[in-house]
Formats: sequence, C-alpha cells, structure tokens
Amino acid sequence: AAPGPLSGRHALVTSGPTHEPIDPVRYIANRSSGHQGHAIAGALARLGARVTLVSGPTALADPPGTTVVRVTTAREMLAACQQALPADIAVCAAAVADWTVTHPATHKTKKAAGAPPPVLALSPNPDILANLAAAGPQRPALVVGFAAETEEVVAQASAKRLRKGCDWIIANDVSEAGNGGRGTVFASPDNTVHVITAEGVEDWPTLSKDVVAHRLAGRIAATLTDRAAA
Ligand code: C5P
Repeated sequence: AAPGPLSGRHALVTSGPTHEPIDPVRYIANRSSGHQGHAIAGALARLGARVTLVSGPTALADPPGTTVVRVTTAREMLAACQQALPADIAVCAAAVADWTVTHPATHKTKKAAGAPPPVLALSPNPDILANLAAAGPQRPALVVGFAAETEEVVAQASAKRLRKGCDWIIANDVSEAGNGGRGTVFASPDNTVHVITAEGVEDWPTLSKDVVAHRLAGRIAATLTDRAAA
C-alpha cells in the first residue's frame, strides 16, 4: 500500500450482497451493488491501510491496492472475516442476507404437473458485524456498521449501534425520497448518510458514494491517529 495515515493498519471491509442457494441454479439475493463497500476499501487503501475486502457476488472490479476474498453466502463471509483477523478497522458494508435456505436442494427443483409449489424453510444467518464487534481480544479497535432504513432513520440506526456493539453506524435512508430525490440508493451513484457515534450524529449532505468513502476513510484515519496520540 502507498504510505499514508493508515500505514501499518489492517482494515477489513465487507461489501456486496450475499447469495443463499435454493438449488444449484437458484438463489435468494438482494439489490446491493457493492459500490459503497468497494469504494470504502479503495479509499482506506489510498490512505495506506492494508485492506482485506471480503465481497459477495458483484460486477465490480477489485479496488486497487486491496486483497479481495470472494464469497457467496453469509456463512462463507463470516468465515472469511474471522480468518482475516486480526484487524485494526472493520467496516461492514455488505448487505448480508438475514436468512438462508435451511436445506438447499442438491438438484434443480422441477415443476411437476399438478404438484404444489415448493415451500422454502429459512434459518437465520450469523450477524457478521455483531460477531466482529464481540470478537474479544480479536475485536478491531474501530468497528463500523451500516444501517439501511426507510423510516425513523437516525433513531433506528442509533438503536442498532448499541444492539450490535459497534463503534459507529453509517445510516442511510433507502426509501425513494430519502436519497435527495435521486432514486433509491441501490442503483444510485449517490448516498445520503448520517454518521452515528457515541458522541452524536453528523448529517452529511448527499454525496457520491466515492466521496462518502473518501470522507469516511479520512474520519477513520483521524480517529485512530487521535487515539494513538491520547
Ligand atoms: O441488522 P441490519 O442488517 O440492518 O444491520 C446492518 C449492518 O449489519 C450492516 O453493517 C451489515 O453489513 C451488518 N450485517 C452483518 N451480518 C448480518 C446482517 C447485517 O454483518 N447477518
């Protein structure tokens, strides 16, 4: 990595959706593009961090200067994150599926004339952010999560920060109206976020996801530098 304020630090970033298989050809997924998480990984690398980017399936190129570990399911993502520890910084930007299919079929599920449609049984996936925030001696010094909300954005996200045990939550309004009228955050190059820490809430203006990443990386570097000086 290039020298910078995060030289000597290891940052772990999760990005993208996860895919939870139903059978060999079908899966459950979500609308995450991975853009915000990949941009954060790239921005941390530009500030000198060694970056491990654990990514679900996306169409994006690997951000320069990062080591990318590609995974498919939430369980694989958790295992890859645990393997990447120790880290000084964890940023969980992945849109991890909340549920996985309990018994994925080993062969393609067939339509049979007159047969009822299959019913999927789901089981909860591990919470990767909560796991990293509770990793004991392996806990990264700064653990940052995201919260995609459609209403009471800041209140919901503040509660999530406490529930998950992370240091910061980056809240974004994923409703149509919330992203500065620019459409939902998923297909948009822009993001409107609130940075929630133990000290309070910062409302950032609508910015490109690349600028959000750059600012967040700068804030992470400043925080770790301040802590090192304290
Ligand atoms: O609970 P919710 O999904 O809204 O929380 C969002 C935050 O938690 C994000 O930072 C996301 O990356 C993380 N998360 C996770 N593992 C899960 C669910 C969410 O790391 N299974």
